[in-house]
Amino acid sequence: MKKTILNLIALTMVVSAFANGEHHDWEDHHVLQINREPARAYFIPYGEKQGDRILSLNGDWQFRWTKTPEGRIKDFWHTDFDASGWKTLAVPANWEVNGYGTPIYVSAGYPFKIDPPYVTREPKKDWTTYEERNPTGQYRRTFTVPVGWQEGQTFLRFEGVMSAFYVWVNGQQAGYSQGSMEPSEFNVTRYIKTGENQIAVEVYKYSDGSYLEDQDFWRFGGIHRDVLLYHTPDVRLRDVAVRASMDGTLQINPQFSVYQGETGEGYRLVATLTDGLRLLCSDSIAADEVLDLDHKAKRMNEWYPQRGHRKFNRMDMKVANPKLWSCEQPNLYTLLLELNDAKGQTVERVTQQVGFRDINIRNGQLLINGQPIKIRGVNRHEHDPYTARVMTEERMLQDLRLMKEANINAVRLAHYPNCPRWYELCDSMGMYLMDEADCETHGLRGTLASTSDWGEAFLDRAIRMAERDKNHPSIIFWSLGNESGYGPNHAAMSAWLHEFDPTRPVHYEGAQGDPDPSTVDVISRFYPRVKQEYLNPGIPEGSDAERAENARWERLLEIAERPGDRCTWVGSDGGPRPVLTSEYAHSMGNALGNFKEYWDEINSNPRMLGGFIWDWVDQGIIRDGKVLYGGDFGDKPNLHAFCMNGIVLSDRTLTPKYYEVQAVYGNGPKAFAETKAPKPKASKTKAPTSYILHLTSSIKPQVYRAPTDNDKSFGNWLAKDWKRCGLDTLTIPMTTEQDGNEFVFTFENPDTLPPLPRLGILIELPREYEQLTWYGRGPWDNYPDRKVSCPIGLWKSTVSEQYVHYPRPQDSGNHEDCTMIELKTKKGKRLRIEAVDEPFSFSALPYSAQYLASKTHDYELEDQGNTYLSIDCAVMGLGNSSCGPGVLKKYTIDKNKKHQLRIRILP
Ligand code: GAL
Repeated sequence: MKKTILNLIALTMVVSAFANGEHHDWEDHHVLQINREPARAYFIPYGEKQGDRILSLNGDWQFRWTKTPEGRIKDFWHTDFDASGWKTLAVPANWEVNGYGTPIYVSAGYPFKIDPPYVTREPKKDWTTYEERNPTGQYRRTFTVPVGWQEGQTFLRFEGVMSAFYVWVNGQQAGYSQGSMEPSEFNVTRYIKTGENQIAVEVYKYSDGSYLEDQDFWRFGGIHRDVLLYHTPDVRLRDVAVRASMDGTLQINPQFSVYQGETGEGYRLVATLTDGLRLLCSDSIAADEVLDLDHKAKRMNEWYPQRGHRKFNRMDMKVANPKLWSCEQPNLYTLLLELNDAKGQTVERVTQQVGFRDINIRNGQLLINGQPIKIRGVNRHEHDPYTARVMTEERMLQDLRLMKEANINAVRLAHYPNCPRWYELCDSMGMYLMDEADCETHGLRGTLASTSDWGEAFLDRAIRMAERDKNHPSIIFWSLGNESGYGPNHAAMSAWLHEFDPTRPVHYEGAQGDPDPSTVDVISRFYPRVKQEYLNPGIPEGSDAERAENARWERLLEIAERPGDRCTWVGSDGGPRPVLTSEYAHSMGNALGNFKEYWDEINSNPRMLGGFIWDWVDQGIIRDGKVLYGGDFGDKPNLHAFCMNGIVLSDRTLTPKYYEVQAVYGNGPKAFAETKAPKPKASKTKAPTSYILHLTSSIKPQVYRAPTDNDKSFGNWLAKDWKRCGLDTLTIPMTTEQDGNEFVFTFENPDTLPPLPRLGILIELPREYEQLTWYGRGPWDNYPDRKVSCPIGLWKSTVSEQYVHYPRPQDSGNHEDCTMIELKTKKGKRLRIEAVDEPFSFSALPYSAQYLASKTHDYELEDQGNTYLSIDCAVMGLGNSSCGPGVLKKYTIDKNKKHQLRIRILP
C-alpha cells in the first residue's frame, strides 16, 4: 500500500513536471515536428499565372521578445488576446540587428551550457545566455484569405526560422517545427475561415536542434526567411522530382495528394518542356495511377517491386540534342506541369527549370557532361552586415555577379541549405553548388554522430535538404554537413542520399580514415599544405622536424598521389576518388598567401579537384558605420574577429585578395607567368646635397610590420615572437654608404631574431606628401606570395588610398618589385626614389606600423599627420596561418644572406 502511494506520488510529480511545462518539445530531440508536411521540391503552384495562389505574410507583425521562455505570454495566441500595445517587427528579420537581444559570435562550442538535448541549463555567469537563456519571440498578425480559397487546401510555409517554433491559426495550434535552414509547411485548411484570420508564431532561439547548428557564425534568432500561404485544389501535385541527362532523357516522378474523399480519378498530369519558344516534348500520366490508393499489386510491382530499387521514370521523355547545362553555359528549359481534372480543365500549374547535365567520376576526376572540371570555389555564409541572415535579391545578385567576375565557378553552401532563391539564381547564372545539410555539432565533436538516439535528427536534415533542392541543376554534390566527427548517423545520411539520388556524389570532410569511409565519393580536406618547404620558426636549419602549426595540415597532393583508393558511387567507374579541399586559403585580414602554389599543384594532378576558399564575405555587423565583430556587443563567449575571413569585406567592398582570386582562377591550367621587374633607368637629376642630408638624417632601419591576422594565427606565433623580442621598437645594425645621391644600406639579419616580416628603412615625411606614383607591382597591394594579379607598371594613387581597411588594423599596402617611387605634395614638392640595381618593396601609408598594431578596430584609426614611407630590400610573404599552414620558406627573409638596399634619393 505504502509503495503504491509512493508510486502515485512519483507519478504525480512527473505529470506535474510536464504540466509545469518542464518537458519542452524544443528540448526533445525526438520531437522534430508536429503536423509538419513531408518535405518536397521547392515550387509554389499557381492557377493562371505565377503567384496567383500565394498570400505573402512578409511585412510587419506585432512582436514581443523576452530573454527567456518563462517571460513569454503563454496565451498570446488566443484570438481575443489584446496585443495592441506590442511593437512591430518585420518578417523576415533577425532579432539582434533590430534591437532585440545580443548577437553572439561563437566559432564552435555552443553559446549555451552543453547538456543535450537541453539548452537552458545554467551556463557560466558571464555568458550572454546566462541572462538571455533562450530568447523567445512572439509574433501576431492577421490576414484575409483571398476569395476562392474556401474550397481546396491551404498551406502555410516558413522558409527558415531560427531555431524552433510553434504556430497557431485562429487560436488553434497548427504545428511545430525545428531546423533553422529548411522550410516547414503546415496544412492549415481546417483552421482558416472566410474573411479575417489571425496567426500567432512563437519562436525559440535555441532548441535541441541547435545542437546540430553549431556552425562558426553569428547566432541570430527569428524568422529570417519568407513566410507565405498558398492554395491548392483537393487533388494536387504534392511533389515532383526531375532528372535530365545529357543524352536528352527527361524523367519525371510526380507525387500527388488527395483530400475530401477525392481519389484523383480522371486527373492527368501533363508535362511539357519548352525552351521559351518551342515545345520540345510532352507526356502525361494519370494521377490515380501514381496514387494507387487501392494498392494494386501490379502497380506496386511495377514501381515499388518487392525486391530491388523503386523505379523513378513515371514520365520518360527524350529531347533531341538538348543544349546542356554547365556553369559556363547555363542552358535552362522550362518544364510546365499542368494538372487537369476529369473534364480536362487545368486545376493547378507548377513550373521547374530544367538543366540537362550529367555528373560522373572517372579516373579520379569529376566530370560534368563528360568533361573534367576543377572547382574554383568559395565557401559562402548567408550574411549581410545590416540584415544579418536575411538575404535580399539584390545582395544575392551582387554576390553572384562578383563571383562570376572573379572566375569563381563553385560555391559551397557553408554550412546549411540556403534560401531557395539562391539556387534559382545559380541555375540561371551558372554556378556549381555543394548543398550542405544543416548539421554541425562542432562543440560536441563526433559525439552525436555516434549516438543512435540522434540518428533521426541527423537524417531529418539530409532528407529535408535533398527533397527541397533535388531539381536544381546547379547542385553537383550533397554534403552531409560540417565538423561533426564521423559516425553511423552520417553513414545513414549518406546511404539515404545515395539511394534517394544516385545522380549526385556525396561529400563530407569529416569522413576520414585509412582509407576514408566509402560513404563519401570525394576525398575532402581542410587547409592543406602544398608540397614545399614551410618556414618553421625555432626549428634548426636542416632538421626534418616541423612546427605543430604547420604539421597539422595535410599535404593534399600526397593524398592524390596515393594509389589504391576506390570510388563506390554508381556514377563512377570504380577508379579513385577526386581529392578536394573543401576549405583552403583562409582569407582572414591581409591573407591569401601562395594561392598560386595551390593552383600549380591542383593543375599538376588530374585527381586534384580544386577547392573552396574560406570564405566569400567578412561576417561583420555594421552599426553607425562601424564594422563590428565578436565581443563588440559584450557577447560571451566569442571568438573576436575570427568571423572576418572574406575575400570581400562585409559590405562587399573588393579587396586585393579578391583580385588575386580573379587572376589565379582565371588563369586556367596554364603556368602562371612570372614577370620580372625591368632594370631601372637612372634619373639625370642631381639632388642638392643639403636636401639629401636633411632627409637621410631621418632614415631609420625598420624590421617590423603591424601583424597581419596570419602573423598572429591560432597560436599567435610570429607576432608573439616579435613582441617578445621587441621588434616594434628594435633598431638593427645598419650601415649607410653614400655617393652623391646614391645610398647603400646594409643590414644584418641576426640569427638571434625571429623570422623578420621586413628588412629595410622607414622615412617619415610630412603628411602633405600624398600624391603617389610608382613603377612596380600594382595597382593594389601585393606581397612576395600574393602578386599574380599585380603586373609591373607605372601606377598612380594617393597615400590615403594605400591602406586596405580590414576590420582589424594590420599591415597592408606593400608593393613588390619596384624600381621607382615618387611622392608629391599639392604645392609641387617632390621626393623620388629609384632602385640602383635590385628592385625594392615599398609601402606609403598614413599610419605607422606601431600605431596599426595598437588598434583593434578599423573605425579607431585616425590620420597621424605623417606619411610613412617604408622601403624594403625584403618582405616576408603572407602565408595562411590564421587557419592553415604558415609562410613558404621561399617567401621569407633569408638569414644566411647579406641584405642590401641600393637606392637613389632625389628631390
Ligand atoms: C573551418 C570551419 C569553418 C570556419 C573555418 C575557420 O574549420 O568549417 O566553418 O570555422 O574553419 O574560419
